[in-house]
Amino acid sequence: MTPDQLEARLAAAADHEAWIEAVADHFRAGGVFFGHGTDNADDEAYWLIRHVEDWRDDLWEAPPDRRLIARIVDVAGRRVRERRPLAYLLGEAWFAGLRFHVNENVLIPRSPMAEIIERCFTPWAELGEGARVLDVGTGSGCLAIAAAWHCPGILVDATDVSKAALAVAKRNIERHGLGGRVRLHEADLFPATTDRFSVIMSNPPYVPERDVDALPPEYAHEPRLALAGGPDGLAPTEQLMRAARERLTPDGVLIVEVGAEAETLMRRHPRLPAVWLDFERGGEGVFVLTARQLEGYFGGGTR
Ligand SMILES: C[S@@+](CC[C@H](N)C(=O)[O-])C[C@H]1O[C@@H](n2cnc3c(N)ncnc32)[C@H](O)[C@@H]1O
Repeated sequence: MTPDQLEARLAAAADHEAWIEAVADHFRAGGVFFGHGTDNADDEAYWLIRHVEDWRDDLWEAPPDRRLIARIVDVAGRRVRERRPLAYLLGEAWFAGLRFHVNENVLIPRSPMAEIIERCFTPWAELGEGARVLDVGTGSGCLAIAAAWHCPGILVDATDVSKAALAVAKRNIERHGLGGRVRLHEADLFPATTDRFSVIMSNPPYVPERDVDALPPEYAHEPRLALAGGPDGLAPTEQLMRAARERLTPDGVLIVEVGAEAETLMRRHPRLPAVWLDFERGGEGVFVLTARQLEGYFGGGTR
């Protein structure tokens, strides 16, 4: 479908449903890949249209405003032509019910860990006033900010090696008014403190180096540093697992996403007592290990 054809369909449409259908057909015809905030053409079309209407419910409930057509055609055209994820074209992503600023210095938020964060890590942790949480590899800050938002009174530290990513995270912390409760550190995995945390969570880079270039073109717009996890994808995860027990409280937990590399991890560590989580909204490859389990497994220093 050409941009002119999309424009004609939008101009002829009587309601928002027809607008969604037209934009979704444009995405489908363009063969774009979904997986950066949505997993299908209809949801992505909805997102684009709501964004250009500034998420205003009054505009959404009224007949579509034809003055918005040029902007929709422009963004939808770039989405297909450039294979750039919609989040980057809009400078916006949604995660755990919150709106985040994003640019190409950060991974687009999409971790299934949103579900655990929204219920404040129960049943894995009970976080009272002042409990400490660490987010390793924070990118846009989405996990750290969502944790502070959904768990009243906790204090969150968040690290990243990328200065450019930390600038985005800082902007998001300010946007959500969480400057007093989310602290950023430019650091390799752990902050340069001796603090211990009740929860350490991470969505580290975990794509095997050789697989990064074979991903759909949309992924090439994301920072390689956020995707590539060494030869088998698990280098940062291994480092995290080995070091985490020194950084957790005695009843603390480590929660890590390794996505499709879960099988490689289980093959390499067949006796690792990890619990793999199920998610209602989809996603996989997130495990939980307690500080005690980490001590029991890695404590002897033989693995
Ligand atoms: C997969 S992204 C996750 C971003 C964000 N937490 C999310 O879930 O959307 C991984 C992040 O880890 C950062 N990173 C990579 N290696 C790191 C390291 N050794 N220490 C800290 N952060 C690292 C990258 O810069 C990137 O922002």
